Amino acid sequence: TVAALKDAVRGRLEESAVSGSVRRLALVPTMGALHEGHARLVRTAAAENDVVVVTIFVNELQFNDREDFLRYPRTLEADVELLAGAGADLVFAPEAAEVYPDGPPLVKLDCGRLGERFEGKARPGHFDGMLAVVSKLLHYGQPPLSTAVPVTYRAYFGQKDAQQLAIIRRMVADLNYDVDIRSVPIVRSPEGLALSSRNRFLSAEEAEAALVLSRALFLLKRRADAGEPLHIEDAEAMIASQPLAKLDYFEVVDPRTLEPLAFNCPETPLTGEALALVAARVGAVRLIDNMPLGR
Ligand code: PAJ
Repeated sequence: TVAALKDAVRGRLEESAVSGSVRRLALVPTMGALHEGHARLVRTAAAENDVVVVTIFVNELQFNDREDFLRYPRTLEADVELLAGAGADLVFAPEAAEVYPDGPPLVKLDCGRLGERFEGKARPGHFDGMLAVVSKLLHYGQPPLSTAVPVTYRAYFGQKDAQQLAIIRRMVADLNYDVDIRSVPIVRSPEGLALSSRNRFLSAEEAEAALVLSRALFLLKRRADAGEPLHIEDAEAMIASQPLAKLDYFEVVDPRTLEPLAFNCPETPLTGEALALVAARVGAVRLIDNMPLGR
């Protein structure tokens, strides 16, 4: 329950208290089916904080497809084991009735333009449902007002879901949530595939085909690093040449606003910060990936 979580957080903060020093509390929201990408978030949070709370909740509201919700992997026992090894202190894995006691929220958060394109377009309602639960989770993890020690509060998210991260950052800024949002780089397989709970649905052949996404992103990164023109069409053509991959979008955007960056001329090298975003379907699995292209 939320009440038990709050009691446990207070207990851990007080136990870890060293007189006069600030306690650091971290929240890591997940949907479970944890892999090395999640473990990296938790290890980063554990290295930077005194008490780490991980939440595991498969939030039905953010699934626009009921089948996708029903088949989302649930592996709580293995998850708890991975979390213990990664340095989590508390795991909060509530029932839906605890999170939504009055049913789906009537009062909703709307992410405006940030949610219109890319994943928002492909998965209508996804980001509204995501914000509904992230808002609640950030509140559940908020340090208690009445602890004897001062407490800082951070929440950790992966760069893997770049649009989700941009939307959460904007919600926290626009609505003055009292939390510091931290991000962690994408964890990949040795071959380059961005780790995802959905990768387990790929056949061996599809997993091999899916590598085309990161290859296309790394092509742009090499060009950006070398100060060369990006020629995004080459990356698109790479993906188009893989018969098992069906491209949804490939775009270079501003990492904060997610507005596509206009290249006046394809020969112009990139200046400033940019983010390449890609989504494609490989077999029955929708995959997303991205790459920061800084100069
Ligand atoms: P989930 O997909 O379980 O992801 C939880 C967190 O792990 C997210 O912040 C995600 O970006 C991060 N993550 C996933 N794969 C990663 C990888 N390969 N490298 C680095 N980080 C990775 O995202 C959600 O859950 C939900 O939308 C949630 C925020 C929990 C709200 O329901």
